[in-house]
Amino acid sequence: MQIILCDSPEQVGARAADVVEARLRQGPTVLGLATGSSPAGTYRELIRRHRDESLSFNQVTAFTLDEYAGLKPGHEQSYYSTIRREFVDHIDLPLEQLLTPRGDAADLVDEANWYDAAIVSAGGIDIQILGIGANGHIGFNEPTSSLASRTRVKTLSGVTRADNAGFFPKGEVPRLCLTQGLGTIRDAKQAVLVALGENKADAVRSMVEGPVSAYCPASVLQLHRRAVVILDPGAASKLTLLDYYREAQELSDQL
Ligand code: F6R
Repeated sequence: MQIILCDSPEQVGARAADVVEARLRQGPTVLGLATGSSPAGTYRELIRRHRDESLSFNQVTAFTLDEYAGLKPGHEQSYYSTIRREFVDHIDLPLEQLLTPRGDAADLVDEANWYDAAIVSAGGIDIQILGIGANGHIGFNEPTSSLASRTRVKTLSGVTRADNAGFFPKGEVPRLCLTQGLGTIRDAKQAVLVALGENKADAVRSMVEGPVSAYCPASVLQLHRRAVVILDPGAASKLTLLDYYREAQELSDQL
């Protein structure tokens, strides 16, 4: 796991955007997109590079990580609407190249299976952008998710529903979701996880320095061949080996 320590949330966004841009400049790219506050700075920076530096997303196919069950794509809080509002509507990614599982599918199990197969048919995800929940989830793989899981229907934990309650009138967060599995995420050729703020520090420590355990789903990234974790000072504040990560970063920046 490569740990990149940043001085500010803005720097986290810029470093993550660098990783994405480097891949985009190589040619057609399959991108995995997380929603939520963590990657918002990354998306803002990518939008800026699209606007000011002609970075193009025309050759990108994008798959979102997860979706709330029961919500139509047009629902204001669906992850489809959110990723369009916060990223896709501001770049040149053709809408037919943005894929999400449909939360309002008649058969959610079929939908999840179709979605996982669609990722495989696209050749797999080149770069998966991730955030991390305070309980260690990635995607909506809640604690005790199988480390080998594929895209499927999951029950949201009480912690996650409470964290997202502010986005829903009367706090009525859906109870189920569709999410790429931990095995699906592990298949991505590169994973880029961004974390901001002290409320993520315990989860970040468990992910990076704890045992690989379904109790901290993000710890599956320890088994990933190319995982980059980009942190602001708050999110990094509980790591034990900070000096080592700093030294490794200095040396790798010189390569
Ligand atoms: C969202 C997702 C979640 C979030 C996580 C952190 O698509 O998959 O795992 O990344 O809940 O959310 P924020 O970034 O809002 O703190």
